[in-house]
Amino acid sequence: MAVAAAQKNREMFAIKKSYSIENGYPARRRSLVDDARFETLVVKQTKQCVLDEARLRANDSGLTEEEVVLQNALAEGGPEAEQEIQKAAIVVHMRDGMNSLVRILKAIEKFHGAICHLETRQSRTYKTQFDLLVKVDMTRQSLLQLIRSLRQSNALEGVSLLAEDNISVKNPWFPRHASELDNCNHLMTKYEPELDMNHPGFADKEYRERRKQIAEIAFAFKYGDTIPTINYTESEIKTWGSVFNTVLDLMPKHACMEYRKVFAKLQEEGIFSPNKIPQLEEMSAFMRRETGFSLRPAAGLLTARDFLASLAFRIFQSTQYVRHENSPNHTPEPDCIHELLGHMPLLCDPSFAQFSQEIGLASLGASDDEIEKLSTVYWFTVEFGLCKEGGQVKAYGAGLLSSYGELLHALSDKPELRAFEPSKTAIQPYQDQEYQPIYYVAESFEDAKDKFRRWVATMSRPFEVRFNPHTGRVEVLDSVHRLEALVNQLNTEVLHLSNALTKLKSPSC
Ligand SMILES: [Fe+2]
Repeated sequence: MAVAAAQKNREMFAIKKSYSIENGYPARRRSLVDDARFETLVVKQTKQCVLDEARLRANDSGLTEEEVVLQNALAEGGPEAEQEIQKAAIVVHMRDGMNSLVRILKAIEKFHGAICHLETRQSRTYKTQFDLLVKVDMTRQSLLQLIRSLRQSNALEGVSLLAEDNISVKNPWFPRHASELDNCNHLMTKYEPELDMNHPGFADKEYRERRKQIAEIAFAFKYGDTIPTINYTESEIKTWGSVFNTVLDLMPKHACMEYRKVFAKLQEEGIFSPNKIPQLEEMSAFMRRETGFSLRPAAGLLTARDFLASLAFRIFQSTQYVRHENSPNHTPEPDCIHELLGHMPLLCDPSFAQFSQEIGLASLGASDDEIEKLSTVYWFTVEFGLCKEGGQVKAYGAGLLSSYGELLHALSDKPELRAFEPSKTAIQPYQDQEYQPIYYVAESFEDAKDKFRRWVATMSRPFEVRFNPHTGRVEVLDSVHRLEALVNQLNTEVLHLSNALTKLKSPSC
């Protein structure tokens, strides 16, 4: 009965995982940072439920809580979870003293465990002489087999698996290929106009219906599909045109050079004009040609973890609906005008595209706390970033480039400007009700990337990842074999580059 109650609690938390103020969502205006904070809270509650459930099962089965969690992880995760490398600490009480040591080490070797730490001490119980603490890295499946095998030995009095961070809680799953983003659609559906009295569309039934229709497209979308066309209404096009013309006026003076360059190209190709809202499919095709970035339709803001994961595959999840006509200069949540005018031009710049992908790659397998920090960095760079250009400060953040009021505020003498420094930026509290009092200025995108990479190297993730552009897969660089294959591939590429250099430098050229 108690276990069933714990399971029910767990399900309740899963349902509660919807972003709405009545469910504890901390802010009125949607942002990736608040989403990350809310997600941390929900995950914490869910983990507590998992542990409560494990504790109850452990009492019944004679196993430790960690073993129950490990068994559950194997049962839920299938073959992939079985092969996942697990860090574990095991305590063994040795009845016949050090004679058992060799037997234990041989058992670890038999199950392909790598010993990271070994320690013996005099036992405090009268039944055994020594206790052994051994820390190992091994697959989850082998770990359970090892524990069972040791328990069968008469020379050992007891074997316990102790909690390591990633034993008590399963490592976060993350997509390895863009097709798996179909599973990363954890949209918080309850933040809808009808639930927020301050939303400009609160009393407009027709607008709410339109939002629902467009959201259905995103929910039905699967990897490889063509993004369906939306027949935008005259009123929606008018709203777009009004924001477009404002950006057009402000851009020459205030937007960074990279943004201006792509904007002009989009105009030349007929994708950007005040009389037509670009379709996501045509914009996606343009982006793919420029930097390999592409779009997926999203019904609204995703969880911070899911949103950032998409960036690792050079995929930007974009809304398709238009803000309410009564409020062309303000929207409480991202709409396609913000995405198209704010985000997409810079995702067509190679250096910025790389920076965005680096944030995404850093998020894969990151802890909840780190996801919150990455979301904060994203907020102060991709959304509200400033950069230097020929002795002047220009805007590159999407939240600035698509918002007339905040752009002028950011570039006035009112806010404080600080140099972008990821370790400090990541913990800076941000303002979501009014304009920011602090903005971070990057020397250049290259400089921002360099600093960001150095900061990411200090994060807790025990492995490195790499995006393989040939297969579209994210590879975890956790084995000598994989690294050797990668070094061979890079050697071939370096050879091609040096051949090209030699040819260019030869007198015949
Ligand atoms: Fe945005």
